[in-house]
Amino acid sequence: MRLLVTGGSGFMGSNAIHYLLRERPECQIVNLDKLTYAGNPENLRDIEKDPRYTFVQGDIAVEADVEKAFAHGPFDAILNYAAETHVDRSILDPSAFVMTDVIGTYRLLEAVRKYNVPRLVQISTDEVFGVAHEHPFREDDRFDPSSPYSASKAGADLLISAYVKTFGTPAIVTHSCNFYGPNQYPEKLIPLFITNLLEGKRVPVYGDGRQVREWIYTEDHCAAVLAILERGRLGAVYNIGTGDRLENIAVTKKLLALAGAGEGMIEHVTDRSAHDVRYEVDSTRLRTELGWAPTVAFDDGLTKTVSWYKEHRPWWEAIKSGDYLKYYEQQYGARHSS
Ligand code: TYD
Repeated sequence: MRLLVTGGSGFMGSNAIHYLLRERPECQIVNLDKLTYAGNPENLRDIEKDPRYTFVQGDIAVEADVEKAFAHGPFDAILNYAAETHVDRSILDPSAFVMTDVIGTYRLLEAVRKYNVPRLVQISTDEVFGVAHEHPFREDDRFDPSSPYSASKAGADLLISAYVKTFGTPAIVTHSCNFYGPNQYPEKLIPLFITNLLEGKRVPVYGDGRQVREWIYTEDHCAAVLAILERGRLGAVYNIGTGDRLENIAVTKKLLALAGAGEGMIEHVTDRSAHDVRYEVDSTRLRTELGWAPTVAFDDGLTKTVSWYKEHRPWWEAIKSGDYLKYYEQQYGARHSS
């Protein structure tokens, strides 16, 4: 199987590439990544020279860059991990979100048509549904996004749905709950809080911390995507969820305990604008159709994640201090703006 993985240098993309090379040793992977702030070459340093792996620096929203990747085709499938994903950044500046998440997905859809790629798997989010009021999100619930980030992902997912209907494009959309695990950029709740605690800093809980998120460990997400890649129905939508639903304050207290810190390290700060109070996902379709189930309990995944950040201080210290940007510029030349 020859795969184009976009956004492969980021947290989820790099975990997926490692997982695929391990679970399907015969596969060939081309990684098209723009190397924004979130794309870190360190994440794939260990496989840089693997003959099954090729790196192409480029932006999915730029046609010529997508063409550069297709020079390494033909591909049996595209896994689209490339996205701007952080809600708080999208509130500060939505532009990159619209460009990468919407225009980028459009470019990939056009490439699928042009090159007759047999399968596109879109990695999307449960956030497109807005707030879960009465029941966990189902695949056919109405989109009601609250942030420029989730609206951009919703736009991309709708575009895919329209391409499926109009052109018969062989695409599948996934809506996942919140990811966590090794290599996650320390701006998201779990890695930010772990690294702050390891630095002896307080953790900024937005508002009262009673917002609920559902959490999936990265390996469980990779297994779900592999099942969808190999056996998912073309044109279908699959939610990916674990049932591990917790208030942010409960996650925070678990992290404090794992880091050996007291509750005095909690700092309640001003709430996020339009903060969604509850996400929860109904993943029955994925479980019954494809036989997938999560294997990592939340407490175990969190323990493994804290251990990883303890053991990989140089990785996140370089990011937090800004040194990795300097290192990156020396290694790879001028960065694209993100
Ligand atoms: P985040 O990791 O940004 O993911 P998302 O907003 O996409 O779910 O945030 C997870 C939850 O944690 C969300 O309810 C916002 C909250 N949060 C904090 O309370 N403090 C923080 O510093 C961050 C980054 C998030």
